Amino acid sequence: MFVSKVVFCIVLVEIINGQNIGTRKPNVTATLRALHPRGLRVYITGDVDTNVVIFNGKLYGLMENGIKQVWGTAIKQASGGWLFEDPNLTLNVGSMISYRIFLPDQFTQFLKENDKNSYKLKGFETDILTFQVSVLEDPSAPEPNCVPTRTRVRGRQYVCGGEVIFEDNFDTLREDLWQVEQYIPVDHPDHPFVSFQRLTSDPNVFVENGTLHIVPKLQENLLRGQESILSGNLDLSDGCTRKMCSKKAFGPDILPPIVSGRLTSYLFSFKYGIVYVRAKVPKGDWLYPEILLEPLLTKYGGTFGGKFSLPEILKIALADGNRVNNEDYALVYQIFNRSKLGLGNCGATKTESTTRFNHDFWGDDFHEFALRWTPDEIMLTVDGDKYFYWERPSLCEDITSAFDYLHLTLGVAVGGAGEFPDNSSTDNGKPKPWRNGDPKASLRFWEERHSWLPTWTQPSLIVDYIKVVAL
Ligand SMILES: *[C@@H]1O[C@H](CO)[C@@H](O)[C@H](O)[C@H]1NC(C)=O
Ligand SMILES: *[C@@H]1O[C@H](CO)[C@@H](O)[C@H](O)[C@H]1NC(C)=O
Ligand SMILES: *[C@@H]1O[C@H](CO)[C@@H](O)[C@H](O)[C@H]1NC(C)=O
Ligand SMILES: *[C@@H]1O[C@H](CO)[C@@H](O)[C@H](O)[C@H]1NC(C)=O
Ligand SMILES: *[C@@H]1O[C@H](CO)[C@@H](O)[C@H](O)[C@H]1NC(C)=O
Repeated sequence: MFVSKVVFCIVLVEIINGQNIGTRKPNVTATLRALHPRGLRVYITGDVDTNVVIFNGKLYGLMENGIKQVWGTAIKQASGGWLFEDPNLTLNVGSMISYRIFLPDQFTQFLKENDKNSYKLKGFETDILTFQVSVLEDPSAPEPNCVPTRTRVRGRQYVCGGEVIFEDNFDTLREDLWQVEQYIPVDHPDHPFVSFQRLTSDPNVFVENGTLHIVPKLQENLLRGQESILSGNLDLSDGCTRKMCSKKAFGPDILPPIVSGRLTSYLFSFKYGIVYVRAKVPKGDWLYPEILLEPLLTKYGGTFGGKFSLPEILKIALADGNRVNNEDYALVYQIFNRSKLGLGNCGATKTESTTRFNHDFWGDDFHEFALRWTPDEIMLTVDGDKYFYWERPSLCEDITSAFDYLHLTLGVAVGGAGEFPDNSSTDNGKPKPWRNGDPKASLRFWEERHSWLPTWTQPSLIVDYIKVVAL
């Protein structure tokens, strides 16, 4: 916006005085809805070529002093049109509003006219129209022009096609959108060698320069005194967000060697939609990002159709932090493992995994990763290029329909039992120091720290934005 609210207050005086008449009538339509128990919403559509749309109304009657001004700027909607909202206005059946829609010319200067701070503003306005409240509507009902969508959002009755249903540009750490997790992920199928923590001094999860940073650190450096990850205790119960928050090292079962971070959109979950994430993924041996959709109550290996085990997770981007076995830098995607699912032809008709190679580390630059999830297909793109596509075979049911609503997860993981194949080696020829499933895996990894730690030149996940749009 190029004008401040203060200026609008002043502008309003001018509009009401009617000294700002333009030369053409804008062809716009306003649909007013009075809400129960309070609130007014005005949807404005039509021929708008200005940056600012102002609703300028007067509410008559049912007020002690007769007339109340109802005015303000309308907000541009992703689904098209503009919306002016006064959430606090109490209307009754029979209340009457007269209004104009004003489109200030975006090249107009605000011309100060006199000492009373009256300004002249050029632009176009509609004729005066009136609206009489005949019904107080349910605020959750869909707006007019709402395109039906298969997207569902938990807790919302209606969602409109093309609507932005979640967005964070990471200008601040929005704790109303994200839970910063603190727990030991013993029940994750990948068994990463990490704990998720929220460090307060020298934080590992923070927002800076308009980006989210999740920085893995060594647990050994954060223990007190003589304690060591080989023999110490880890107690994360202060601020614990899940079941498992303490652990005592015992023999080869050492404390998770890496302190990492994880954010979950705990109040937002949805089914079907398009997720966009612009991020720089971690770079360094055995690191990988967790940019996922997961159920709120993590149900790894839940049952599908009563028979099969299916991790209800959709991965949005998965790129290893190191080159594995001299292959190029891989962006891997794996969907349902058909032998695990036992779906026969339904699972077998399409590719289930794909690898997109790059000559440079995926973590050298920011990329926009996107996942399109519909009842019929799953598609992944990087910087707009499609690299994975799965289509539901026509005679098969949508296997993701069994999924719960999924929420967003952003995190960094290290090692683990699922991500790196056994007998693989890194770019500089260092063999993977542990075997998947070995109870001593974490210890073997830790013992080889002199080989992987120097490669952690950019171990953080850095996220510029994340956005979810309804289908
Ligand atoms: C106003 O817009 C509507 C549809 O947006 C169109 O049908 C109508 O012809 C327009 N009227 C004028 C006067 O341009
Ligand atoms: C609505 O009322 C609440 C509580 O009185 C106030 O905090 C809020 O700023 C008001 N919102 C608007 C848009 O006037
Ligand atoms: C933020 O930007 C400043 C100035 O460019 C830079 O010094 C600092 O390292 C940046 N912070 C992070 C976390 O990248
Ligand atoms: C799929 O699952 C089977 C059985 O659990 C396993 O042997 C196979 O390695 C898995 N395939 C992939 C690609 O993960
Ligand atoms: C890894 O290599 C060793 C020695 O060459 C071999 O015994 C083992 O079977 C291999 N493991 C896998 C999973 O390929």
